Amino acid sequence: MAENRRKPGNPWPALSEGPLIAPSLLACDFARMGEQIDAVLAAGAEVLHVDVMDAHFVPNLSMGPPVVKSLRRYTDRPLDVHIMVADVATYIDRFADAGADSVTFHIEATDRPRVLADRLHELGLGAGVTLKPGTPASALRAVIAAVDLVLVMTVEPGYGGQAFLPAMLEKIAEVRAMLSPAQRLEVDGGINPDTARLCAQRGADVFVAGENLFGAKDIAAAVRRLQEAVRAARR
Ligand code: DX5
Ligand code: ZN
Repeated sequence: MAENRRKPGNPWPALSEGPLIAPSLLACDFARMGEQIDAVLAAGAEVLHVDVMDAHFVPNLSMGPPVVKSLRRYTDRPLDVHIMVADVATYIDRFADAGADSVTFHIEATDRPRVLADRLHELGLGAGVTLKPGTPASALRAVIAAVDLVLVMTVEPGYGGQAFLPAMLEKIAEVRAMLSPAQRLEVDGGINPDTARLCAQRGADVFVAGENLFGAKDIAAAVRRLQEAVRAARR
């Protein structure tokens, strides 16, 4: 495959209105990552979601900047990097250098979210902010106007393959009411056609899914099933 030469940058304004499917690479077979990325993209997924864990903010360890660097060479599709790390300021710069297009950080990990969102825009990247299930939507108040995307976690961050938390549906509706139409509302954790439909009905428009896609016998068919479910929900 030819090497990607696209310059990284904020992907959200140029993407279609959605709904957008964002496969979580945490659930892929790391020994066959390129092949599985080809499968989800060919089936119509628009964004690749990269889960970064530091074994500190969350009790697990996953991928770091070298993985994003390789992904950047491999594909020109948007890399949506979700950083579950305590040291947000350091890693924003590291992932920007590695070629991320958008970085989403946790509101619980910082007391200066506005500065961090502004830093991401200064670097030319998309800026996202996310909240754990126990954090109320009101925690976003100081930063919400400065981000391209809010990610409502629908499981406790740290592991793939967990069950969707239905109590998050109300928060999704609440966050949607706080956003302008151009801002994206992403959901992440336990997403399958049924839970995605419920989230779409409350205004979610970017759907991260790991196990449901990469755990399927036919990855492409799973992407299409998820896409159909969220499109139908918004009609
Ligand atoms: C959890 C991660 C998720 C996770 C989703 O900490 O942020 O992106 O991989 O995986 P599934 O879809 O398997 O719940
Ligand atoms: Zn994630």
